[in-house]
Amino acid sequence: MNTENKRVFVTGGGSGIGLAIARRFAESGYNVTIGGRNEERLRAAALPYAVLDVTDETSVREVSARIGAIDILIANAGVAHTAPALKTSIEDWNRIISVNLTGVFLCARSFAPAMIERGWGRVIAVASTASLRAYPYASAYVASKHGLLGLVKTLALELAKTGVTANAICPGFTDTPMFRQSVRNIVDKTGRSPEETAAALLKDQPMGRLIKPDEVADAALWLASESARSVNGQAIAIDGGETTP
Ligand code: NAI
Repeated sequence: MNTENKRVFVTGGGSGIGLAIARRFAESGYNVTIGGRNEERLRAAALPYAVLDVTDETSVREVSARIGAIDILIANAGVAHTAPALKTSIEDWNRIISVNLTGVFLCARSFAPAMIERGWGRVIAVASTASLRAYPYASAYVASKHGLLGLVKTLALELAKTGVTANAICPGFTDTPMFRQSVRNIVDKTGRSPEETAAALLKDQPMGRLIKPDEVADAALWLASESARSVNGQAIAIDGGETTP
């Protein structure tokens, strides 16, 4: 596959998993643009970028019109939230659902039509093991990521004959700013040490270690390749076996 002709857009590409994916695609010769809210971070990544808020339909449409047709959408932008389900405010609930679920819907709706028109494309959502199992104190996040997998599977069925595939990558706990912030939040609420907290979060991970952002990037690179052309509607868990039944 001639990767130079393939255009990739990575949402939330200024940090963590999104940045690792963007760099991996750029190193492999793809033409990569990253998108996110924080211009300073996007600029620091030294890749072409567009400021966008995935929850804002106008912003997504405007960026899509400005950067033009892309071949591969990496819908990675996401936010975490920790609280007991019955103490989750409506504001927090709506915020998590609108970034993690509605944001992917808006990006797919803006970017996939040009892929369909050209008869080739990839929609790759960075979902989570929280798409496949529940975690206590993360109801909005778990609901958003379960919903996201439902969206990806539905897109996969609807687009199956167009040359465009849709898949989800489901990482377990990954060493990124999001994970470190989650540990800090739990430390603040419980008074436990950061080491104890990280160990408690990893207790169900058979390998007992954090996933590296590069491991997620490798999966995305494969899903984008010709080898994965018949892989559609899948949830690819990168989780050391955590969600193995
Ligand atoms: P991160 O916090 O480093 O990256 C998230 C990115 O999304 C940030 O760059 C942020 O600015 C961007 N973003 C947030 N809201 C946005 C919005 N409204 N519009 C545009 N951009 C927005 O965290 P990380 O870990 O790299 O997260 C990336 C994805 O991976 C998320 O979808 C997350 O849910 C998922 N994930 C993370 C895991 C972890 O343990 N770190 C595990 C499983 C999934």
